[in-house]
Amino acid sequence: MERLEVKNLNHHFGFAEILKDINFTLNKGEVLSIVGPSGGGKTTLLHLCADLLDVEEGSIINTFESSAFAFQEARLLPWKNVIDNISLGLLAKGEKKSEAIKKSQEIALRFGLDKDDFDKFPKDLSGGMKQRVSFARALVVKPSLLFLDEPFSALDIGLKKELQAILIDMISKKEISILFITHDLMEAIRLSDEMLLLKADPGHIVKKFRFDVVQDQRNDKYVYGKSAEILQDEEIINTFELELK
Ligand SMILES: Nc1ncnc2c1ncn2[C@@H]1O[C@H](COP(=O)(O)OP(=O)(O)OP(=O)(O)O)[C@@H](O)[C@H]1O
Ligand SMILES: [Mg+2]
Repeated sequence: MERLEVKNLNHHFGFAEILKDINFTLNKGEVLSIVGPSGGGKTTLLHLCADLLDVEEGSIINTFESSAFAFQEARLLPWKNVIDNISLGLLAKGEKKSEAIKKSQEIALRFGLDKDDFDKFPKDLSGGMKQRVSFARALVVKPSLLFLDEPFSALDIGLKKELQAILIDMISKKEISILFITHDLMEAIRLSDEMLLLKADPGHIVKKFRFDVVQDQRNDKYVYGKSAEILQDEEIINTFELELK
């Protein structure tokens, strides 16, 4: 079975200890989120898992057939238009240009871009549109594992819900596994099967939460209720340094 297994992982930048004794497994079809405060090492952990950084201590075994990454900022190529940005991964895989463009156009429409946007360059796109392109580019290759680093943080509530709904649809159809980083608890509760709480200095996992209701059955009431419950959790209060009034 495809899986991502992180064992006894430590990481340093120079003398600074960034991650300490990280252990978790993401199985096929699951969504695992990692929440924690800014600077806690979440992006570093995701980069290690995605093989964008070398593992120094401990191990990461990734047996997923393919993966894709959507970054904290959209990272589009400024000299390529919307469709050419989306089709990059397909072309890299050796897909025929005409086929790559067709698939890219289809997914762009699915992600709410208009035909008029296809020829636009990143400088002429709003932040939300850039995020749509970034999502489309990650998903067009149909990765079995998707890495997401705060992909919704710069979006308004409507767009956030729209993109989340597309992911929830894919999750419910078991089309994808996701390792997902956020500091938004509600987002984690809406999307994930399991949520790891990463406390800072150095980043270490202090608690794991599981959500058993399937994603497409989680309505706002469920998400708000769970958030309220989790915000009372002592580890959450300590980790985010929340003050109880
Ligand atoms: N390439 C690097 N070289 C040195 N230090 C780094 C490097 N990348 C990150 N750091 C440091 O590692 C720590 C963790 O950074 P990281 O980006 O992983 O945090 P984060 O949890 O993703 O934060 P945020 O929620 O703000 O995105 C920070 O102190 C950061 O300054
Ligand atoms: Mg980060």
